This record gives sequence, C-alpha cells and structure tokens, in this order.
Amino acid sequence: MPALIDRFERKHDYLRISVTDRCNLRCLYCMPEEGVQFAPSDDLLSYDQIVEVVETGAALGISKLRITGGEPLVRPGLDSLVRRLAAIPGIREISLTTNGVLLADQAEALRKAGVTRVNISLDTLDPARFRFIARRGELKRVLDGIEAAAKAGFAPIKLNCVLLKGVNEDEIAAFLMMARDQPLHVRFIEYMPIGHADENWKKHYLPLSRVLEMAQELGLQTERRDNVVGNGPSDDYRIAGGAGSFGLIHPVSDHFCQRCNRLRLTADGSIKPCLYWVDELNVKPALGNPEAMQALFMRAMDIKPLNHEMAAKLADEAQSHVPTERRMSQIGG
Ligand code: 5AD
Ligand code: SF4
Repeated sequence: MPALIDRFERKHDYLRISVTDRCNLRCLYCMPEEGVQFAPSDDLLSYDQIVEVVETGAALGISKLRITGGEPLVRPGLDSLVRRLAAIPGIREISLTTNGVLLADQAEALRKAGVTRVNISLDTLDPARFRFIARRGELKRVLDGIEAAAKAGFAPIKLNCVLLKGVNEDEIAAFLMMARDQPLHVRFIEYMPIGHADENWKKHYLPLSRVLEMAQELGLQTERRDNVVGNGPSDDYRIAGGAGSFGLIHPVSDHFCQRCNRLRLTADGSIKPCLYWVDELNVKPALGNPEAMQALFMRAMDIKPLNHEMAAKLADEAQSHVPTERRMSQIGG
C-alpha cells in the first residue's frame, strides 16, 4: 500500500473531517451574519460514507482524525460516528473541535465513544462581547461545556482563542492569567482570510507577537516547550509556577506549511489538500470503489501546493493560484 507523501516529501497522517457546514453560532471570523447558504442535507456525506472514506485513508497511513464543522455537535448521533471511526484499524486518535454550546450534554457520550481530545472555541470571557463575536448563543453554555468536558475526563482541554484587533485584544492578559491559574491550554490563533480576504479581515487581523509582549508586561516567566500532545503547528509555552499553558498559532505572520501533515474532508464530500486554495476532489464518484478512493487520496498528494499565501494577501500581492471562496464553516475549522 502506498503512503500519503506529497511532491514536497511531506507525509500525511492526519485527516480533518467536517461533518456539517451548519452552526448554532455565526462567529464573525467564520461566517457572515445573515444569508449563509448551507449545503442541502442530501449533499452531506452520510456517516456510512464518511466511514468508507476514512477506511481508505487509514489504509494509506491516516492515523489521526479531527471532527469539525460548522459545529459538529449539531449533527445528530455524532457519538455513533465516532464509535465507528474509532474501530477502524490504524486510527489512533480522534479529536474534536467544537464551539462548546452543546458540549455539556454530549461530553460524556463522546468520550465513551472514543474522542481522545477536545478543542473548544473561546474568544472572550465577556458575555456581551460573546454576543458581538458569535452573534448568537450564550457564553455561559460554553463555560458549562468546558466544565463538562473536564468532568468527562478530557485532558488537556484546549481553548481556541482567535485574536481580533479592536475586538478582544484587551483580553490577552485575562487569557494568559487563565492559562496560568487553570489546567487548560489556551491557543491564541491568528485570524485567517479564508474565503473572505476583505477589508474586514485586514481591519481585525492581529499578529500574535502581541501575546508574548503582554506576557512580559505582566511579568510572567514563559518557557518554550515542545510536548503538548497533538499540537501540530502551535508554538507552546509554559508559565513558570502555572497550572496550564498556552500556544501560538500564527498561520499568517509565520506559516508552518513545510510541516503540513493534514488533509481535509468537507461535509459535502470533497478532499481539500489545503484550506486556502480552491482545489478540491469530490469523493462521491469514488464511493463503493476502494481503488478509485485510493487514487483520489494519491491525487490529493499530487496537487497539494507548497504553501498558502495569506501573508501575500495581507500585503496585497498577487496570488500564485486561486484562493477558495468557501468560508471556514464550509471547510472545517
Ligand atoms: N481564522 C482563524 N481561525 C478560524 N477558525 C474559524 N475561522 C477562522 C478564521 N477565519 C477556527 C477557530 C475556531 C475553529 C472552529 O476554527 O479556531 O475556534
Ligand atoms: Fe460556528 Fe465555529 Fe464558525 Fe463560530 S467558528 S460560526 S462556532 S463553525
């Protein structure tokens, strides 16, 4: 069986699976407030079909999965999918990215089904600001979800905090204190121009160098560390004497494409070699045909580009390929 190695010698063992493009929130960095066109439910891959794609991927060396959306917990029976994915030979880890709103009800079932780790989005600690960023929902539900995840035994719990200039940059200190005082891993993430490289992105994009400056201003002793499990592209730091840790994910200011090991499967059934560019391969014609499915994975290796060009976008430079017009919720955050 061939392995998933691309033209730049990068080995792929990680598949991010979006199970739905729908969401119960409308985070401003991810979706427009109104008028989102969701895929008709008939277009979504069924759980049987997702399992089929993963079986081929696993035979080619995929061992780590992440379930994303949209918001994955809005799709009914997610634990039944996880149980089936966990049983596929070769699959060793199944993590989940969620906005946390429905997590209090599902954390235990998902853990029992085989989810090994969770990342929960938390961009603010202020209820009113939560409504501004997420445009719906309540912060309290997310905090309850985080607590339920801890109770269910998930550790370390990772919080995804997308930093937005002029919106939540004044909370960097509070998040750093949280990482110092609680056994949590806070991941600060740069705002990426996915499907909407517009003026709004430029207005709110904030390079993460601000986080280390703030740690210094607060007098925190930080120390680089390399061992937070499953952290991929994150630069991780421990805080001396602290209970938790934090990480920086800076795809725009300093990309980590040379270490990319991931493919994506969209909810409507396309393999995306890179989240930034338009290229995708529809798996539907290959369903029921393991050889054709394998060929599709290999094709993804052949067309995978060297890197995205988000930084060039910031500088208004020309792009070498065509960027996707899909939003993050349609690709898988
Ligand atoms: N830039 C950076 N991160 C994003 N996410 C979604 N959209 C963006 C974006 N434009 C990430 C956030 C969120 C997860 C679901 O996807 O980390 O927590
Ligand atoms: Fe929903 Fe996540 Fe997108 Fe927010 S970031 S709108 S929670 S899919």
